[in-house]
Amino acid sequence: MRSLIDIQQLSVEEIDELIALANDIIAHPDDYREKCRYKKLATLFFEPSTRTRLSFEAAMYELGGQVLGFSEAQSSSAAKGESVSDTVRVVSGYADIIAMRHPKEGAPLVASMAATVPVINAGDGGHLHPTQTLTDLLTISREKGRLNDLTIGVCGDLKFGRTVHSLIAAMARYKGMRFALISPEELKLPSYIKKEILQQKHIDYVQTTDLASVMGELDILYMTRVQRERFFNEEDYLRLKDSYILTPEKLQTAKADLSILHPLPRVNEISTAVDADPRACYFKQALYGKYIRMALILKLLEVA
Ligand code: CP
Repeated sequence: MRSLIDIQQLSVEEIDELIALANDIIAHPDDYREKCRYKKLATLFFEPSTRTRLSFEAAMYELGGQVLGFSEAQSSSAAKGESVSDTVRVVSGYADIIAMRHPKEGAPLVASMAATVPVINAGDGGHLHPTQTLTDLLTISREKGRLNDLTIGVCGDLKFGRTVHSLIAAMARYKGMRFALISPEELKLPSYIKKEILQQKHIDYVQTTDLASVMGELDILYMTRVQRERFFNEEDYLRLKDSYILTPEKLQTAKADLSILHPLPRVNEISTAVDADPRACYFKQALYGKYIRMALILKLLEVA
């Protein structure tokens, strides 16, 4: 029994295998329709979600399995004070695999120690979001045909954006990567990620507040939302929320084969006028999330 809490638990070879499996599912969906027959996925979401929860559920249904769960803490016995450990110990008797989102960093790790079935971290606070990262890697590999020798600009809330933390950790293991870290001063990437990942692996990066200064060099532009729910102070959020709004005008200096990604939900940081640009990949990216989660469920349940 194996859980996925942090993308770093997966070797590059395992990530490449998951991507290959997802690509095979996309090409031959009928071959997978019965793979999880009689298996159940529990989605335990203590925090709001559209894509992650529903793509996990769609993934399990498309594998022939079934789904149970809750979409907010208030409709579970967490509202009565039940611990995460007790919840998953009980749910382990009802389901074969658990996907959990929780506002507290580390909660899915605690859950994985108490559960007797695999637990997948579906996002824990401002910490990690490994299945979003797998989604991002599948998208990049399909768009670019490779996961190496790329210049990636990550833009927006790099402090609280858990998807960015997991993406940098994962991409840093491929060769020839360069990063542009674009954020307001107050929302810079945490120092521990710069130190423990970028500096330790001698990865080339620049840190800037100015998106225009790096736009022309980027192969990937990964936009992120300013994470309102992680701010202590509404005034700070209001001051910073529109720091970067991507528009067709701002893309004029970008490469013709730039790929624009965003984990979604979008608030204001990409103008809807950009959606018609063939470089906009974020809705495709959300769809790929279903396929990579199908691949992950198959691997963790050892049916692929
Ligand atoms: N990208 C992502 O995690 O979206 P949701 O919050 O809608 O799941």
